[in-house]
Amino acid sequence: MKIGVLGSGDVAKVLAGGFLRHGHDTMAGTRDSAKLAAWGKANPRASIGSFAEAAAFGEVVVLAVKGTAAGAALRAAGAANLSGKPVIDATNPIADAPPRNGVLKFFTSLDESLMERLQREFADAHFVKAFNSVGNGRMVDPQFAGGKPTMFICGNDQAAKTTVAGLVEQFGWEVADMGAVEAARAIEPLCMLWCIPGFLRNEWTHAFKLLR
Ligand SMILES: NC(=O)c1ccc[n+]([C@@H]2O[C@H](COP(=O)([O-])OP(=O)(O)OC[C@H]3O[C@@H](n4cnc5c(N)ncnc54)[C@H](OP(=O)(O)O)[C@@H]3O)[C@@H](O)[C@H]2O)c1
Repeated sequence: MKIGVLGSGDVAKVLAGGFLRHGHDTMAGTRDSAKLAAWGKANPRASIGSFAEAAAFGEVVVLAVKGTAAGAALRAAGAANLSGKPVIDATNPIADAPPRNGVLKFFTSLDESLMERLQREFADAHFVKAFNSVGNGRMVDPQFAGGKPTMFICGNDQAAKTTVAGLVEQFGWEVADMGAVEAARAIEPLCMLWCIPGFLRNEWTHAFKLLR
């Protein structure tokens, strides 16, 4: 597939690299292409462009920017370039405040997730939450003695979720579909839970698994 990744941080680079390795055509988008210059040299099959160019390029778009900037990045990408497409939302609504006893502060509430805000503003895009509650070092082809970890996803559009689930499975995960966009109220705070062992004990290599 053609994948447009919005972002120049670790998550964007890891996911874009994973899509390339798994045989997809990939363009990464940023406001400042200098930030991706070294990554581009190491990944010569990747294209680099603006947020709008990456969104226009992708049949699937990946949102991998700072949570406080998610709306701004999507506005720069352009609603028309997102319309009708699955948008994998890896963001977390982390506030610009330090964690307290290892617990991150969010700028959203338990009654409204970031993805709901984005879905409301970009009504024609098909947001699917994924990759938000695992560290970037374990996002692609994770290896765990306990078997495949579980990626919790949600979103309103079934076809978009089917497409995203296929990509997530290709990256070596099992997928647990938690339903519509409101489920992001529960999936986004998994990031808080995931980070606690990191902040308290410098443990950053775990992932969640749903046992049935
Ligand atoms: N780090 C992890 O392991 C991890 C794991 C799971 C989920 N996440 C989530 O994934 C997202 C990306 O995390 P990250 O650590 O890779 O990077 P990050 O430092 O949170 O975000 C960097 C990206 O945000 C964009 N950005 C910042 N301010 C902006 C603004 N005012 N307008 C438009 N874009 C702006 C930057 O755009 P430019 O390229 O234009 O500078 C850059 O691409 C976050 O929401 C994070 O919570 C992170």
